[in-house]
Amino acid sequence: MLKVLVASSKGGAGKSTLATNLAAYYAVEGKNTVLVDADRQGSGLRWCQRRAQHADAVLGLPGTRRDWDKPIPPDAQRVVVDSPAGIRPDEVEAYLDKVAAVLVPVLPSAIDLEATEPFLNDLAGLGRVRRGKVAVGLVANRLKPWTNASQLAVEEMRRFPFPVVAQLRDTQGYVLANALGKSIFDYHSELVRSHQQDWASLVRWLKKHS
Ligand SMILES: Nc1ncnc2c1ncn2[C@@H]1O[C@H](COP(=O)(O)OP(=O)(O)OP(=O)(O)O)[C@@H](O)[C@H]1O
Ligand SMILES: [Mg+2]
Repeated sequence: MLKVLVASSKGGAGKSTLATNLAAYYAVEGKNTVLVDADRQGSGLRWCQRRAQHADAVLGLPGTRRDWDKPIPPDAQRVVVDSPAGIRPDEVEAYLDKVAAVLVPVLPSAIDLEATEPFLNDLAGLGRVRRGKVAVGLVANRLKPWTNASQLAVEEMRRFPFPVVAQLRDTQGYVLANALGKSIFDYHSELVRSHQQDWASLVRWLKKHS
């Protein structure tokens, strides 16, 4: 059972977008998939409810309690945990015994990079991360690749203590799909397929660390 935590100290960086799309990717692949929503805002759970009427449902479970993993069915193959904004490194540490990898979405702006750097440095100091038991990957999110700002931001991210495992572009596709309980992996137009390609390196990286 592969368990992945999506976390960031920064609000609005794309944690729920990343968590729901990753969960849908695995569900579409045929894996029994659970989305644990550790955010009291509950946007992940509501997405699971919307998705329940479609094929490739994802089981949504609340994750605000310490024993969040107890209700996970034993036949679950993939578990994605969405966490709230403002999570502290010691709160992240509480998850690290139970997950194989942490994904941190980062937006391409100086404000976001500056706000995220101390969080990443704290993560790098946690025992299980230091000992290589838990892998941490950065996901550059909402990129507009044709802009200088996005290109520079990705360069900046490469100086952080963890690898950039995916570069996701800004597209309304994520916004529209989420509202319907869907993901970009539920559509097959040429445009959507090009956004699906953005995830290939992330999925490969997770496979390596599972
Ligand atoms: N790649 C993207 N392209 C376009 N819009 C995006 C993308 N990623 C996220 N968004 C939008 O940005 C907003 C914030 O994203 P999201 O809710 O996933 O962030 P979050 O980190 O979970 O926020 P919070 O800290 O409030 O939990 C949402 O409106 C979402 O639809
Ligand atoms: Mg969220």
